[in-house]
Amino acid sequence: MFNIIIKEDYRQISEAANEIVRELLAKKQDAIFGLATGSTPLGLYSAMIADNEQNITDYQKVVTFNLDEYIGLPDKHPQSYKSFMEENLFSKINIKLGNTHLPLARDSQDLRACQDYEELLADYVIDIQVLGIGANGHIGFNEPGTAFDSFTHIVELAKRTRLDNQRFFSSLDEVPTHAITMGIATIMKAKKIILLASGENKAQAVFEMINGPIVEEMPASILQKHPNVIVLLDKAAASKL
Ligand code: GLP
Repeated sequence: MFNIIIKEDYRQISEAANEIVRELLAKKQDAIFGLATGSTPLGLYSAMIADNEQNITDYQKVVTFNLDEYIGLPDKHPQSYKSFMEENLFSKINIKLGNTHLPLARDSQDLRACQDYEELLADYVIDIQVLGIGANGHIGFNEPGTAFDSFTHIVELAKRTRLDNQRFFSSLDEVPTHAITMGIATIMKAKKIILLASGENKAQAVFEMINGPIVEEMPASILQKHPNVIVLLDKAAASKL
């Protein structure tokens, strides 16, 4: 079930998302968060950092699980999602690094890494899963065609996704071809999902997620079946609704 909230701009959707995070932390200091990368959650992460600096929120007991990670980037590569999270959130709040988790696969055959991540996740229930959406409707790195009953798995990235993410690398050749990602079924286990989308290039995917048929070709459409999804959109991302 979607609770759709449309705001004027990116800053306002980031603040609205942070408000939800803040409310949860006020009630539950040891909350479990599912986190996403990409440019969309950056505003939320900045707001979380500001609240932590002002002692409004405390992350000492918080545990996090990230959705996904590239495969094949050298350790400490600035574009790995581990580096991204450390730079944009973890190093700037009082979270224990040992409580932060990202999947990590050695290569595209590393099925053990997928099992390990699912086994780790099995001990927790994610209170809030933060999600962005790819222009082709992917969530995490679950590209169109991913089975709705999938758990953590290794994917070959769609050409469009690699082109979208090329801006973070010096050339398309440098963008990894594979990634490890929580599956759709993993994501659906979260108690609450906050999906953020900003900008015109997300408008079609947002429209299909909300109004389209529930089909594996549009991974985000499965969220129609989740009991508690807050969709935070700026005007451009909501322009096709
Ligand atoms: C990547 C991430 C997704 C993210 C998507 C959108 O593919 N794996 O989790 O939602 O990018 O990124 P952006 O927010 O930069 O548009």
